[in-house]
Amino acid sequence: MRKIIVAGNWKMNHNYDQAKGFVEDLLPQLKEVKSDRVEIMIAPTFVFVQNLIELAEGSQLQIGAQDVSSHEIGAFTGEVSAQMLASINANFVIIGHSERREYHHESDRLIKEKLIKLLDHKIRPIVCIGETLDQREDAITQDVILTQLKGCFAGIDLADNPQVVIAYEPVWAIGTGKTATPEMAEEVHAMIRDWLTSEYGSETAEAIHILYGGSMKADNIEALVSQPNIDGGLIGGASLKVVSYLEMIKIASKI
Ligand code: 13P
Repeated sequence: MRKIIVAGNWKMNHNYDQAKGFVEDLLPQLKEVKSDRVEIMIAPTFVFVQNLIELAEGSQLQIGAQDVSSHEIGAFTGEVSAQMLASINANFVIIGHSERREYHHESDRLIKEKLIKLLDHKIRPIVCIGETLDQREDAITQDVILTQLKGCFAGIDLADNPQVVIAYEPVWAIGTGKTATPEMAEEVHAMIRDWLTSEYGSETAEAIHILYGGSMKADNIEALVSQPNIDGGLIGGASLKVVSYLEMIKIASKI
């Protein structure tokens, strides 16, 4: 059975004292959480990844990054490679977030190149996909999602990589307070699972986690994650405070 993943994407929030204080406050409280039910992850800014990994060592808190370069090594000013993240034991990396697609013009093709780098360096990818409000209103959500899936995963054998995580984040729900209803989200998650089944077979499709992201918080996580194909959340705003993040972890661990 898939464990529920409660992953915080801190985006460009928290200075070092805040990030360190958060982890120091959270860790002792995680001892009460059953690790056989949930996986707990946080992606801080690159600059704090290594310190937080060291702080979280020996706990069930996994620390990862919010992006990675599609290049292996060399003259790419400002970029951070998968090799670098592997060398500090980063647990996972988020790629293809809609904010990167929008503000940095990232394409599915580029996201696939990043995915390949992460797989080469044995770091778990969380691959984000999702439609915009216009696309939903034009009733092309399904086409958009299938195009993103094909673009990000064509030629990649997920049967060999069932640790890959897919995060469905409808762009109109991110940071807006508008959450997809559990039924709306489940419809897309089920479609993603069907696509995985048709491409890779049911064993792989059943092993892969599909997370929901977009204004997830303590008062809606239960209804969302209770859906058969929603395996957890990628959480922005509500992951920034220990109280709300821990509450979500506790709720998820009891589902
Ligand atoms: P919010 O939870 O703030 O809507 O952000 C979701 C998100 O983008 C997580 O990656």
